[in-house]
Amino acid sequence: MFCNKTIMTIMKRLKNVSLIAILGFFASFVSVKAQDLAEGEQIYKNNCSTCHAVTDEVVVGPGLKGILQRRTIDWIVPWVHNPQAVIASGDKYAVDLYNKYNKAQMTAYPGYSAAQITSVIAYIDAQAKVVAAPAAGATPVAGGATSAAGASNGGMMEYIMIALLAVMVLVLVALLSIVSSLTKLSTITPDSLEAQGIPLLQRIAENGKKLTRSSAFKTGAALLITLLIGKATIDAAYGIGIHKGYAPEQPIQFSHKLHAGQYEINCNYCHTGVYKGKGANIPSANICMNCHNAIKRESPEIQKIYRSLEKDEPIQWVRVHNLPDLAYFNHAQHTNVGGLECTNCHGEIAKMEVVQQRSSLTMGWCIDCHRKTNVNAKGNAYYDKLVELHNSETKEPLKVQDIGGLECSKCHY
Ligand code: HEC
Ligand code: HEC
Ligand code: HEC
Ligand code: HEC
Ligand code: HEC
Ligand code: HEC
Repeated sequence: MFCNKTIMTIMKRLKNVSLIAILGFFASFVSVKAQDLAEGEQIYKNNCSTCHAVTDEVVVGPGLKGILQRRTIDWIVPWVHNPQAVIASGDKYAVDLYNKYNKAQMTAYPGYSAAQITSVIAYIDAQAKVVAAPAAGATPVAGGATSAAGASNGGMMEYIMIALLAVMVLVLVALLSIVSSLTKLSTITPDSLEAQGIPLLQRIAENGKKLTRSSAFKTGAALLITLLIGKATIDAAYGIGIHKGYAPEQPIQFSHKLHAGQYEINCNYCHTGVYKGKGANIPSANICMNCHNAIKRESPEIQKIYRSLEKDEPIQWVRVHNLPDLAYFNHAQHTNVGGLECTNCHGEIAKMEVVQQRSSLTMGWCIDCHRKTNVNAKGNAYYDKLVELHNSETKEPLKVQDIGGLECSKCHY
């Protein structure tokens, strides 16, 4: 009996253990697969989605839905590594495809391993099944609606505040008049009022009129108006040289909402310096031609790109953000080292039809962020010693101001 019981408990334990083991095995299997897909997704979104869709839709290159039915992995891997080499080798499928897409050149990705490319294709295949028709078209429209609302937010708030202020003043006046009416009323009995034959409301209104004529009210109103005018003047004075909200018309109606938003082209595909250098760079017409030698050739706006190239005159984009020469700003320091997003400083560019300056770009703006923002020190050996020293002195996290972010010479030549 006893023996049996122990065996039973041991068996039970074993069952649990093996169940856990089996579950663990499946979990690890699934997570490896999910990890592969996640890596595939990342590679796809960072590189391929610029030119390909997971549907049938042609972007720059063909839609990749059903690619595994058309091509084998053995063909795709060398193709992604070096499309021009496959075309040059005379591969009929490649040559036909190349001609069909107006000789648009696909970027070569010699750096990705066969396994990585397989994950990308697996991701595309999985996505193609998920996206299958209905929901696909809806997203850009929704994006459009929110962006319109977002764009007018800044100015709207101010109007709402002013309107609220005006309402508050009116309510104050009304309340004061009611209070004064009531004090008067409390000194006379209802009988005497009725005897005078004047209805209550009318009396209140009359008292209101008296109040607006009173000198105290006039001084109050004058003071309020002076204050408002004063504030506007001071704002305007401080605003000299500040171009927040500046959104000039550009020589070509280039839309970030379309390119960076709807087609999800990475910012650094065009702004090539943004993670590497001081300036972000404005793309040359050649970068536009990677796509527009095939896309929308007939559009008058696209014709302007061709004309600029033919005449060898760069497109005259109007500069939006511009710090005075006395200040030094470096993109790579903020995006790459600091780990900041473009939106931290530029707002939702990917939702803008026309680029608008969203931050003031004043010294106060830079300093304010340097006071508040923690240094992105994780995994950066450069900061290890500094963090150690800092932590031995205080419990506060290491802020940009602690690494010299408030020193004049860091931002001024
Ligand atoms: C700059 C645009 C561009 C980028 C980026 C790009 N491709 Fe392409 N791709 C093309 C074009 C264009 C073609 C059609 C052939 C041609 O014109 O060279 C093509 C063709 C293909 C084909 C063959 C399609 C078919 O229907 O047979 C595959 C597969 C492919 N690309 C995969 C990828 C993958 C994977 C990535 C990302 C790692 C990628 N491409 C990134 C432009 C691009
Ligand atoms: C297809 C190319 C392309 C992509 C992708 C792109 N941009 Fe641009 N960007 C441009 C061009 C061209 C201009 C100049 C014309 C203009 O201001 O619209 C510009 C201008 C800008 C400016 C204003 C520059 C100035 O004069 O001060 C900012 C800021 C900017 N882009 C940020 C972004 C961000 C953030 C992203 C990603 C979300 C992005 N861009 C993606 C092409 C691109
Ligand atoms: C990676 C591909 C890609 C690049 C690079 C690119 N575009 Fe585009 N562009 C597109 C796509 C896709 C469309 C949408 C075409 C459509 O509506 O059928 C488009 C549309 C446009 C349009 C609207 C045309 C019209 O009449 O509707 C303009 C203007 C434009 N692009 C300008 C530019 C400029 C300027 C550059 C370079 C700074 C550029 N594009 C770079 C893919 C690209
Ligand atoms: C910490 C704030 C900050 C972040 C983050 C930031 N920018 Fe900027 N950006 C600026 C300032 C400030 C300027 C004006 C620089 C000047 O006039 O010297 C600027 C200018 C630009 C310009 C105009 C060209 C140039 O280099 O002057 C482009 C394009 C641009 N940014 C794109 C981007 C993109 C894309 C990202 C994200 C990858 C980004 N920025 C992230 C602050 C920022
Ligand atoms: C959104 C927040 C933010 C804004 C706005 C911002 N910065 Fe920074 N800045 C940072 C961060 C975070 C770092 C730290 C990056 C690092 O780890 O080196 C930094 C670092 C710097 C450094 C290097 C400091 C050092 O001691 O190494 C300089 C110089 C600098 N910023 C200049 C500017 C200027 C000029 C402006 C305004 C035009 C500005 N920053 C606006 C967040 C910001
Ligand atoms: C984080 C970066 C940063 C630091 C630190 C910084 N400045 Fe500036 N400063 C700027 C920027 C950006 C401007 C230009 C924008 C503006 O005029 O507001 C500027 C403008 C100025 C101007 C010109 C003001 C004008 O109206 O033209 C003076 C003077 C100046 N700074 C002095 C200093 C002194 C002194 C220090 C040290 C105590 C200092 N700054 C530290 C970023 C910085």
